[in-house]
Amino acid sequence: MAVGTAPGKVILLGEHAVVYGRPAIAVPVIQVQARVEVEDQPVGRGITIVATDLGQQFEPSHADVADSAAVALASTVRNTLERLGQHREPDLRITISSTVPIGRGLGSGAAVATALVRALAAHLGGYLTARDVSDLVYRTEILHHGTPSGIDNSVISFGKPLYFIRGQLDEVFWLGRPLCLVIGDTGVPSSTREVVADVRRRWEADRATYEAHFTAIGSLVEAARQAMVEGDLPALGRLMDANQRELRAVGVSSAELERLIGAALDAGALGAKLSGSGRGGNMVALAEEGTRHAVEAALAAAGARGIITTQVS
Ligand code: PMV
Repeated sequence: MAVGTAPGKVILLGEHAVVYGRPAIAVPVIQVQARVEVEDQPVGRGITIVATDLGQQFEPSHADVADSAAVALASTVRNTLERLGQHREPDLRITISSTVPIGRGLGSGAAVATALVRALAAHLGGYLTARDVSDLVYRTEILHHGTPSGIDNSVISFGKPLYFIRGQLDEVFWLGRPLCLVIGDTGVPSSTREVVADVRRRWEADRATYEAHFTAIGSLVEAARQAMVEGDLPALGRLMDANQRELRAVGVSSAELERLIGAALDAGALGAKLSGSGRGGNMVALAEEGTRHAVEAALAAAGARGIITTQVS
């Protein structure tokens, strides 16, 4: 039997602008994990996928076309076997579980796909680089999100803080000091596909204004990378706040996000902003060991539905 695991992720700065060619920074969230086990099953059985959290068991060749999660898993298996040069369907039982919350901007789809690719490669004795894994998972991300920038598959496959420019650069970098991030969930569902499409409509109606916001965000991301490398956490916090002001102007914040962001800042966070597509989903606050409990308590009091604190190094 082989096991593959993968972490979740948060976008720290640069969401939305990244779709328009500006840089973004994302970090892995190791407190949540996807885990996939692959084991042989009797000859002739073919492949069985058991998705324990979804309460599903199916054969990828018979995945229900109306079930997007099943289609994505089936296609990840098919693409990976093809990439590993397996032209005959092996007899495998694939068991998938994940603690990455679904549909919350924490990269659940990319985490499951990454763990699946890793487990298949390990079980079948194939060698894949982190970039190979990322490329395979990107193909799954297209099924989940339509036109994803590719930041999720990259940061999750590399498992390190990532500076990313769509189609050009995915560069891991080292932090001068570890980050303590407190992630708060508004509990409001948000569709990345719909929010990205809405931002595109706004951009088409007024390109000059939106390009200016995206360029401003790109500059904040550059400065944030420098602050992260130098370990200048107060500067990083201020840059996150400035990024949030731009995202507000782009029209992707919400009353619930603002309430959690305000609560985190009042409790002493160095900076706070929405993370991911916005209009719901998660916010992320930069805390310190001395303030993390106060920030967590403030988020809980302000109505956060789920709170994940992670240390990134
Ligand atoms: O909500 P998430 O984590 O899937 O993030 C979406 C980030 C966007 O920049 C809005 C879209 C993208 O594909 O990068």
